[in-house]
Amino acid sequence: MCMELIMAKVNDPIVINGKTVKNRLTMAPTVKFDMAGADGFVTPEHVQHYAERAKGGFGLICVEATAVTSDGRFAPNHMGLWEDAQTEGHKAITDACHKEGAVVLIQINHTGNTANPMFGQAKGPSAVEVWNGNHSQAMTLDEIHSMQNSFIMAAKRALDAGYDGVQLHGCHGYLINQFVSPKTNLRTDEYGQDKSLFGSEIIRGIREMCGKDFIISIRTPGAEPDIDHMLVVNEKYVEAGCDYLQVSHGIDSFGNITKPEDAPYSDLCALGVNFKKAYKGSVPISCVGGLMTPELVKYIIENDLTDTVDLARSALADPSYAGAILEGKDYVKCFECKACQYGPGTGHKCPAAMKRGVY
Ligand SMILES: Cc1cc2nc3c(=O)[nH]c(=O)nc-3n(C[C@H](O)[C@H](O)[C@H](O)COP(=O)(O)O)c2cc1C
Repeated sequence: MCMELIMAKVNDPIVINGKTVKNRLTMAPTVKFDMAGADGFVTPEHVQHYAERAKGGFGLICVEATAVTSDGRFAPNHMGLWEDAQTEGHKAITDACHKEGAVVLIQINHTGNTANPMFGQAKGPSAVEVWNGNHSQAMTLDEIHSMQNSFIMAAKRALDAGYDGVQLHGCHGYLINQFVSPKTNLRTDEYGQDKSLFGSEIIRGIREMCGKDFIISIRTPGAEPDIDHMLVVNEKYVEAGCDYLQVSHGIDSFGNITKPEDAPYSDLCALGVNFKKAYKGSVPISCVGGLMTPELVKYIIENDLTDTVDLARSALADPSYAGAILEGKDYVKCFECKACQYGPGTGHKCPAAMKRGVY
Protein backbone atom coordinates (compact mmCIF):
# COMPACT_ATOMS: atom_id res chain seq x y z
CA MET A 1 0.00 0.00 0.00
CA CYS A 2 1.31 3.44 -0.87
CA MET A 3 1.26 5.82 2.11
CA GLU A 4 0.80 9.44 1.04
CA LEU A 5 2.82 11.85 3.14
CA ILE A 6 0.81 14.98 3.93
CA MET A 7 3.13 17.97 3.80
CA ALA A 8 2.52 21.05 5.87
CA LYS A 9 1.80 24.44 4.33
CA VAL A 10 3.05 27.77 5.66
CA ASN A 11 -0.52 28.73 6.60
CA ASP A 12 -1.07 25.59 8.69
CA PRO A 13 -1.34 26.12 12.43
CA ILE A 14 0.96 24.33 14.83
CA VAL A 15 0.39 23.62 18.52
CA ILE A 16 3.23 24.35 20.95
CA ASN A 17 2.56 23.22 24.51
CA GLY A 18 -1.20 23.52 24.03
CA LYS A 19 -1.10 26.98 22.38
CA THR A 20 -2.06 27.26 18.73
CA VAL A 21 0.31 29.28 16.58
CA LYS A 22 -1.75 30.26 13.53
CA ASN A 23 0.97 29.64 10.91
CA ARG A 24 4.57 28.47 10.54
CA LEU A 25 6.20 31.92 10.47
CA THR A 26 8.04 33.19 13.54
CA MET A 27 9.70 36.55 13.97
CA ALA A 28 13.22 35.83 15.23
CA PRO A 29 14.60 37.71 18.25
CA THR A 30 16.38 40.82 16.97
CA VAL A 31 17.69 43.31 19.49
CA LYS A 32 16.86 46.98 18.86
CA PHE A 33 19.47 49.01 20.72
CA ASP A 34 18.23 52.26 19.28
CA MET A 35 14.83 51.74 20.95
CA ALA A 36 15.67 50.70 24.50
CA GLY A 37 15.09 53.27 27.19
CA ALA A 38 17.31 54.11 30.13
CA ASP A 39 17.63 51.23 32.63
CA GLY A 40 16.31 48.66 30.15
CA PHE A 41 12.70 49.80 30.12
CA VAL A 42 10.37 49.12 27.19
CA THR A 43 9.58 52.20 25.10
CA PRO A 44 6.58 53.03 22.85
CA GLU A 45 8.89 52.37 19.85
CA HIS A 46 9.28 48.74 20.96
CA VAL A 47 5.52 48.34 21.27
CA GLN A 48 4.90 49.76 17.81
CA HIS A 49 7.73 47.67 16.31
CA TYR A 50 6.35 44.36 17.59
CA ALA A 51 2.69 45.31 16.98
CA GLU A 52 3.49 46.02 13.31
CA ARG A 53 5.10 42.62 12.86
CA ALA A 54 2.24 40.81 14.64
CA LYS A 55 -0.21 42.71 12.41
CA GLY A 56 1.92 41.71 9.42
CA GLY A 57 0.88 38.11 10.09
CA PHE A 58 3.68 36.34 11.98
CA GLY A 59 2.13 33.48 13.96
CA LEU A 60 4.73 33.81 16.70
CA ILE A 61 6.76 36.81 17.76
CA CYS A 62 9.91 36.26 19.80
CA VAL A 63 10.84 39.55 21.44
CA GLU A 64 14.54 40.34 21.40
CA ALA A 65 17.31 39.18 23.78
CA THR A 66 16.45 40.72 27.15
CA ALA A 67 18.88 40.78 30.05
CA VAL A 68 18.18 38.80 33.25
CA THR A 69 20.63 40.86 35.33
CA SER A 70 21.86 44.40 34.75
CA ASP A 71 25.46 43.24 34.23
CA GLY A 72 24.35 40.75 31.58
CA ARG A 73 23.32 43.49 29.15
CA PHE A 74 25.02 44.02 25.80
CA ALA A 75 25.10 47.79 26.47
CA PRO A 76 23.30 50.31 28.70
CA ASN A 77 20.45 50.70 26.21
CA HIS A 78 19.57 46.99 26.21
CA MET A 79 16.10 45.90 27.31
CA GLY A 80 15.80 44.08 30.64
CA LEU A 81 13.61 41.97 32.89
CA TRP A 82 15.91 41.98 35.89
CA GLU A 83 13.58 43.90 38.21
CA ASP A 84 9.83 43.99 38.85
CA ALA A 85 9.52 47.62 37.76
CA GLN A 86 10.41 46.54 34.19
CA THR A 87 7.40 44.19 33.95
CA GLU A 88 4.69 46.80 33.35
CA GLY A 89 6.21 48.09 30.10
CA HIS A 90 6.21 44.59 28.60
CA LYS A 91 2.44 44.33 29.07
CA ALA A 92 1.97 46.81 26.23
CA ILE A 93 4.00 44.54 23.90
CA THR A 94 2.08 41.40 24.83
CA ASP A 95 -1.31 43.15 24.58
CA ALA A 96 -0.47 44.56 21.16
CA CYS A 97 0.74 41.20 19.79
CA HIS A 98 -2.17 39.23 21.27
CA LYS A 99 -4.62 41.70 19.72
CA GLU A 100 -3.26 40.66 16.32
CA GLY A 101 -3.58 36.95 17.15
CA ALA A 102 0.13 36.21 17.59
CA VAL A 103 1.66 34.02 20.25
CA VAL A 104 4.43 36.04 21.92
CA LEU A 105 7.58 34.84 23.66
CA ILE A 106 10.52 36.83 25.01
CA GLN A 107 14.13 35.75 24.74
CA ILE A 108 16.02 35.98 28.05
CA ASN A 109 19.78 36.18 28.18
CA HIS A 110 23.02 36.81 30.00
CA THR A 111 26.24 37.59 28.15
CA GLY A 112 28.44 35.58 30.58
CA ASN A 113 32.09 35.61 29.59
CA THR A 114 31.37 38.01 26.70
CA ALA A 115 30.05 40.67 29.12
CA ASN A 116 30.62 44.27 28.22
CA PRO A 117 33.65 45.41 30.31
CA MET A 118 31.68 48.49 31.38
CA PHE A 119 29.66 46.18 33.65
CA GLY A 120 32.70 44.76 35.47
CA GLN A 121 34.63 41.50 35.38
CA ALA A 122 33.20 39.02 32.87
CA LYS A 123 32.38 35.60 34.33
CA GLY A 124 31.45 32.32 32.69
CA PRO A 125 31.69 28.60 33.34
CA SER A 126 35.52 28.72 33.30
CA ALA A 127 38.42 31.14 33.15
CA VAL A 128 39.14 31.49 29.42
CA GLU A 129 40.43 34.15 27.07
CA VAL A 130 37.50 36.08 25.65
CA TRP A 131 36.74 38.08 22.52
CA ASN A 132 38.53 41.27 23.62
CA GLY A 133 41.72 39.49 24.69
CA ASN A 134 40.70 39.74 28.38
CA HIS A 135 40.19 36.72 30.60
CA SER A 136 36.88 35.72 32.12
CA GLN A 137 36.62 34.35 35.64
CA ALA A 138 35.04 31.00 36.52
CA MET A 139 31.69 31.28 38.30
CA THR A 140 31.48 29.76 41.78
CA LEU A 141 28.69 27.29 42.54
CA ASP A 142 26.85 30.02 44.46
CA GLU A 143 27.14 32.34 41.45
CA ILE A 144 25.81 29.60 39.16
CA HIS A 145 22.77 29.04 41.37
CA SER A 146 22.12 32.75 41.74
CA MET A 147 22.34 33.21 37.96
CA GLN A 148 19.90 30.34 37.37
CA ASN A 149 17.55 32.05 39.79
CA SER A 150 17.85 35.30 37.81
CA PHE A 151 16.71 33.46 34.66
CA ILE A 152 13.79 31.92 36.57
CA MET A 153 12.73 35.28 38.05
CA ALA A 154 12.95 36.96 34.64
CA ALA A 155 10.64 34.22 33.30
CA LYS A 156 8.21 34.86 36.17
CA ARG A 157 8.16 38.58 35.25
CA ALA A 158 7.55 37.56 31.62
CA LEU A 159 4.56 35.48 32.76
CA ASP A 160 3.25 38.42 34.80
CA ALA A 161 3.64 40.66 31.75
CA GLY A 162 1.40 38.35 29.69
CA TYR A 163 3.99 36.53 27.59
CA ASP A 164 2.93 33.05 26.42
CA GLY A 165 6.39 31.84 27.26
CA VAL A 166 10.10 32.50 27.19
CA GLN A 167 12.94 31.53 24.96
CA LEU A 168 16.27 30.88 26.62
CA HIS A 169 19.11 32.37 24.59
CA GLY A 170 21.16 29.20 24.42
CA CYS A 171 23.28 29.98 21.34
CA HIS A 172 25.53 32.63 19.70
CA GLY A 173 28.20 32.23 22.40
CA TYR A 174 26.26 33.66 25.36
CA LEU A 175 26.14 32.20 28.87
CA ILE A 176 23.93 29.12 28.38
CA ASN A 177 25.88 28.32 25.20
CA GLN A 178 29.16 28.73 27.13
CA PHE A 179 28.09 25.95 29.50
CA VAL A 180 27.37 23.65 26.55
CA SER A 181 30.64 24.23 24.71
CA PRO A 182 33.70 22.11 25.61
CA LYS A 183 35.79 25.16 24.61
CA THR A 184 34.38 27.46 27.30
CA ASN A 185 33.22 24.92 29.89
CA LEU A 186 36.35 23.27 31.33
CA ARG A 187 34.78 22.57 34.73
CA THR A 188 35.29 19.22 36.43
CA ASP A 189 32.22 19.48 38.71
CA GLU A 190 28.68 18.41 37.77
CA TYR A 191 28.25 21.50 35.53
CA GLY A 192 31.26 20.38 33.50
CA GLN A 193 30.44 16.68 33.44
CA ASP A 194 26.90 17.33 32.18
CA LYS A 195 27.14 20.22 29.73
CA SER A 196 23.34 20.57 29.62
CA LEU A 197 22.90 20.86 33.40
CA PHE A 198 23.04 24.66 33.70
CA GLY A 199 20.28 25.07 31.09
CA SER A 200 18.23 22.04 32.17
CA GLU A 201 18.03 23.24 35.77
CA ILE A 202 16.86 26.66 34.56
CA ILE A 203 14.15 24.97 32.46
CA ARG A 204 13.00 22.88 35.46
CA GLY A 205 12.94 25.99 37.66
CA ILE A 206 10.89 27.95 35.11
CA ARG A 207 8.43 25.09 34.71
CA GLU A 208 7.95 24.93 38.47
CA MET A 209 7.65 28.72 38.81
CA CYS A 210 5.50 29.46 35.74
CA GLY A 211 3.29 26.38 35.46
CA LYS A 212 2.58 23.69 32.92
CA ASP A 213 0.96 25.93 30.29
CA PHE A 214 3.87 28.36 29.91
CA ILE A 215 5.88 27.77 26.71
CA ILE A 216 9.58 27.18 27.30
CA SER A 217 11.71 27.33 24.19
CA ILE A 218 15.44 27.41 23.73
CA ARG A 219 17.49 28.84 20.88
CA THR A 220 20.20 26.25 20.64
CA PRO A 221 23.30 25.65 18.50
CA GLY A 222 22.83 22.95 15.87
CA ALA A 223 26.46 21.84 16.22
CA GLU A 224 28.55 22.59 19.32
CA PRO A 225 31.03 21.21 18.51
CA ASP A 226 28.94 18.73 16.51
CA ILE A 227 25.36 17.67 16.05
CA ASP A 228 25.69 14.46 18.13
CA HIS A 229 26.61 16.42 21.26
CA MET A 230 23.74 18.83 20.67
CA LEU A 231 21.20 16.05 20.16
CA VAL A 232 22.09 14.72 23.64
CA VAL A 233 22.04 18.19 25.22
CA ASN A 234 18.66 19.03 23.69
CA GLU A 235 17.18 15.69 24.69
CA LYS A 236 17.96 16.73 28.27
CA TYR A 237 16.45 20.18 27.74
CA VAL A 238 13.25 18.53 26.48
CA GLU A 239 13.23 16.04 29.37
CA ALA A 240 13.48 19.04 31.71
CA GLY A 241 10.38 20.62 30.14
CA CYS A 242 11.44 22.47 26.99
CA ASP A 243 8.61 22.66 24.40
CA TYR A 244 10.23 24.08 21.29
CA LEU A 245 13.77 24.07 19.84
CA GLN A 246 14.90 26.91 17.61
CA VAL A 247 18.20 25.99 16.02
CA SER A 248 20.91 28.54 15.24
CA HIS A 249 24.71 28.59 15.55
CA GLY A 250 27.06 28.40 18.53
CA ILE A 251 30.66 29.25 19.35
CA ASP A 252 31.98 26.73 16.87
CA SER A 253 29.59 28.30 14.45
CA PHE A 254 28.84 25.61 11.93
CA GLY A 255 30.66 22.59 13.39
CA ASN A 256 31.09 19.96 10.69
CA ILE A 257 27.97 20.99 8.80
CA THR A 258 26.95 19.04 5.74
CA LYS A 259 24.17 19.69 3.27
CA PRO A 260 23.19 18.46 -0.18
CA GLU A 261 25.13 20.17 -2.96
CA ASP A 262 21.96 21.46 -4.55
CA ALA A 263 20.35 22.64 -1.28
CA PRO A 264 18.85 26.09 -1.88
CA TYR A 265 19.23 27.15 1.76
CA SER A 266 22.17 28.58 3.75
CA ASP A 267 24.67 26.69 5.96
CA LEU A 268 23.04 28.34 8.99
CA CYS A 269 19.66 27.06 7.92
CA ALA A 270 21.17 23.61 7.33
CA LEU A 271 21.95 23.41 11.07
CA GLY A 272 18.21 23.39 11.78
CA VAL A 273 17.36 21.17 8.82
CA ASN A 274 19.98 18.57 9.84
CA PHE A 275 18.85 18.76 13.45
CA LYS A 276 15.21 18.12 12.54
CA LYS A 277 16.27 15.14 10.39
CA ALA A 278 18.31 13.55 13.20
CA TYR A 279 16.02 14.48 16.10
CA LYS A 280 13.93 11.61 17.44
CA GLY A 281 11.85 13.58 19.94
CA SER A 282 8.46 15.19 19.57
CA VAL A 283 8.81 18.96 20.07
CA PRO A 284 8.74 21.30 17.04
CA ILE A 285 12.03 22.44 15.47
CA SER A 286 12.79 25.64 13.58
CA CYS A 287 15.62 26.86 11.36
CA VAL A 288 16.91 30.34 10.61
CA GLY A 289 19.23 32.09 8.19
CA GLY A 290 18.82 33.82 4.86
CA LEU A 291 15.20 32.89 4.23
CA MET A 292 14.71 36.00 2.13
CA THR A 293 12.08 34.92 -0.40
CA PRO A 294 8.58 33.48 0.05
CA GLU A 295 9.54 30.65 -2.31
CA LEU A 296 12.42 29.53 -0.10
CA VAL A 297 10.31 29.70 3.07
CA LYS A 298 7.61 27.58 1.42
CA TYR A 299 10.24 25.11 0.19
CA ILE A 300 11.42 24.53 3.78
CA ILE A 301 7.96 23.98 5.22
CA GLU A 302 6.40 22.09 2.32
CA ASN A 303 9.31 19.66 2.21
CA ASP A 304 9.03 19.11 5.97
CA LEU A 305 12.62 20.28 6.50
CA THR A 306 11.60 22.01 9.75
CA ASP A 307 8.29 22.67 11.51
CA THR A 308 8.52 26.47 11.62
CA VAL A 309 10.82 29.07 10.06
CA ASP A 310 12.44 31.87 11.99
CA LEU A 311 12.78 35.17 10.10
CA ALA A 312 14.99 38.02 11.30
CA ARG A 313 16.37 40.63 8.86
CA SER A 314 13.49 40.11 6.41
CA ALA A 315 11.04 40.87 9.22
CA LEU A 316 13.00 43.97 10.21
CA ALA A 317 13.11 45.13 6.59
CA ASP A 318 9.35 44.87 6.14
CA PRO A 319 6.62 43.72 8.56
CA SER A 320 4.60 42.74 5.46
CA TYR A 321 7.00 39.88 4.69
CA ALA A 322 4.70 37.46 6.53
CA GLY A 323 1.76 38.59 4.36
CA ALA A 324 3.90 38.13 1.25
CA ILE A 325 4.58 34.51 2.20
CA LEU A 326 1.04 33.72 3.37
CA GLU A 327 -1.02 35.67 0.85
CA GLY A 328 1.30 36.87 -1.90
CA LYS A 329 1.19 40.51 -0.72
CA ASP A 330 3.77 43.05 -1.91
CA TYR A 331 6.83 43.52 0.29
CA VAL A 332 10.23 45.18 0.25
CA LYS A 333 13.01 42.60 0.24
CA CYS A 334 15.87 42.84 2.74
CA PHE A 335 18.99 44.26 1.05
CA GLU A 336 21.25 42.00 3.23
CA CYS A 337 23.46 45.06 3.80
CA LYS A 338 24.10 44.67 7.57
CA ALA A 339 22.78 48.18 8.36
CA CYS A 340 20.55 46.70 11.08
CA GLN A 341 23.56 44.99 12.68
CA TYR A 342 25.53 48.18 13.30
CA GLY A 343 25.06 49.79 16.68
CA PRO A 344 22.88 52.78 17.38
CA GLY A 345 24.14 56.23 16.61
CA THR A 346 26.28 55.00 13.70
CA GLY A 347 23.97 56.59 11.14
CA HIS A 348 23.28 53.29 9.30
CA LYS A 349 19.72 53.08 8.09
CA CYS A 350 17.85 50.10 6.73
CA PRO A 351 17.45 50.77 2.98
CA ALA A 352 14.35 48.58 2.85
CA ALA A 353 12.70 50.67 5.57
CA MET A 354 13.74 53.82 3.69
CA LYS A 355 12.16 52.41 0.53
CA ARG A 356 8.97 51.90 2.56
CA GLY A 357 9.11 55.55 3.57
CA VAL A 358 9.99 54.88 7.22
CA TYR A 359 12.54 57.26 8.90
C1 LIG B 1 19.79 43.49 14.13
C2 LIG B 1 19.90 42.08 14.60
C3 LIG B 1 19.67 41.79 15.93
C4 LIG B 1 19.72 40.45 16.39
N1 LIG B 1 19.42 40.19 17.70
C5 LIG B 1 19.33 38.90 18.11
C6 LIG B 1 18.85 38.59 19.41
O1 LIG B 1 18.44 39.46 20.18
N2 LIG B 1 18.83 37.27 19.77
C7 LIG B 1 19.21 36.27 18.93
O2 LIG B 1 19.16 35.09 19.30
N3 LIG B 1 19.62 36.55 17.68
C8 LIG B 1 19.68 37.81 17.25
N4 LIG B 1 20.03 38.09 15.95
C9 LIG B 1 20.21 36.96 15.01
C10 LIG B 1 18.90 36.72 14.25
O3 LIG B 1 17.86 36.35 15.11
C11 LIG B 1 19.06 35.64 13.16
O4 LIG B 1 19.43 34.45 13.77
C12 LIG B 1 20.07 36.02 12.08
O5 LIG B 1 19.92 37.37 11.69
C13 LIG B 1 19.90 35.13 10.83
O6 LIG B 1 18.58 35.21 10.34
P1 LIG B 1 18.18 36.10 9.03
O7 LIG B 1 19.03 35.61 7.91
O8 LIG B 1 16.70 35.82 8.83
O9 LIG B 1 18.47 37.53 9.37
C14 LIG B 1 20.02 39.40 15.48
C15 LIG B 1 20.26 39.72 14.14
C16 LIG B 1 20.19 41.02 13.69
C17 LIG B 1 20.40 41.30 12.23
